[in-house]
Amino acid sequence: MDIKKDFPILMDRKISYLDNGATTQKPVQVIEAINEFYKKYNANPHRGAYSLSIEATEVYESTRAKIAKFINARKSEEIIFSKNATESLNLIAYSYGMENLKKEDEIVISIMEHHSNLVPWQKVAKVTGSTLKYMYINENFELSDEEIEKKITDNTKIVGITHISNVLGTINNVKKIIKYAHKKGAIVVVDASQSVPHIKIDVQDLDCDFLVFSGHKMLAPLGIGVMYGKKQILNNMTPFLMGGDMIEYVYEQDTTYAPLPNKFEAGTQNVEAVVGLGAAIDYIEDLGYDTIHKIEEEIVEYAIQELSKLEFVKLYITPNKQNHSAVISFNVDGVHPHDVASILDTEGVCVRSGNHCAQPLMRFLNIDSTCRASFYLYNTKEDVDNLVKALNKVYNMFKKYI
Ligand code: ALA
Repeated sequence: MDIKKDFPILMDRKISYLDNGATTQKPVQVIEAINEFYKKYNANPHRGAYSLSIEATEVYESTRAKIAKFINARKSEEIIFSKNATESLNLIAYSYGMENLKKEDEIVISIMEHHSNLVPWQKVAKVTGSTLKYMYINENFELSDEEIEKKITDNTKIVGITHISNVLGTINNVKKIIKYAHKKGAIVVVDASQSVPHIKIDVQDLDCDFLVFSGHKMLAPLGIGVMYGKKQILNNMTPFLMGGDMIEYVYEQDTTYAPLPNKFEAGTQNVEAVVGLGAAIDYIEDLGYDTIHKIEEEIVEYAIQELSKLEFVKLYITPNKQNHSAVISFNVDGVHPHDVASILDTEGVCVRSGNHCAQPLMRFLNIDSTCRASFYLYNTKEDVDNLVKALNKVYNMFKKYI
């Protein structure tokens, strides 16, 4: 199966693109869907009584319904469009957290959260006087049941948890965490940014209260995100952004809000990206999560096997294969990750280096930064071979200093 041929950028440039945790490349099917929208349907949805605007509304709303089906939400109006997972998380923090937390309450998150599921909760804790607590990882880079049960208590009102760590690739057992948190009376916010591209998500099965993800990490354009929330909770929340299309009646001094989902979608939306997200879902579903899993499993296994042979490379991954996704963080002994990434770039290998928007995790691990190779459905064993070859180049350049 030659998947790369669907991705013009991967055909044009001779690169091994291993920064899929940051963003994925876009298939021609997504690019063409956006083109077609502008050629045939462009107008502002919900704004016009003329047929072109009605057709644009249809395109926009049918994608919402597609996303609801994709993650098995009960209702279309439980899907709110945002600009990315970060904005979705801010919406939850401001509209739910600020309004529902009191001084004696606790917010519990994991130490492996991306800043976007961490900094907003710091702000909520500061404003409401509530306490922000962390669940720490064990020597396998995993959350133990004991740690989860120690930190989530009767005082916990919100649990924020990443489904898959963007640094470690650890897959958290969010279903178990949600069940336990609910027993304690807390609601759970799942950051699924790194899981939706790789794993079939069923929000009803998980029973999460909120779940967020970004389109651009799953083949869709930049600038489109999703917030899923249970209808009953969303109905009781006040909007985060105010303006056009989120209102019912506006008086000089007061406003009543539109019903879901419009209540949370102020201003003209990124319709082209919504269309692209719809096409990305079609692409993923046509290929199928089973196939995606098979491709990734083979590549990641091969990558771990080959990287483990390099005695100058340290990997930051759990030994429990079933709890590990398609992200491999690593360091080269004695060489700064930015230098490593720059040298890999000279060999056409794209990896991210730095703290990966997870500074508390870095501090906990007692390191400043890592390199990160993150794989997706178009990667091949050849990409892994290129990575290994480039890492040998790094070692040969630096070995006299280390
Ligand atoms: N959140 C993205 C990453 O982990 C940008 O790389």
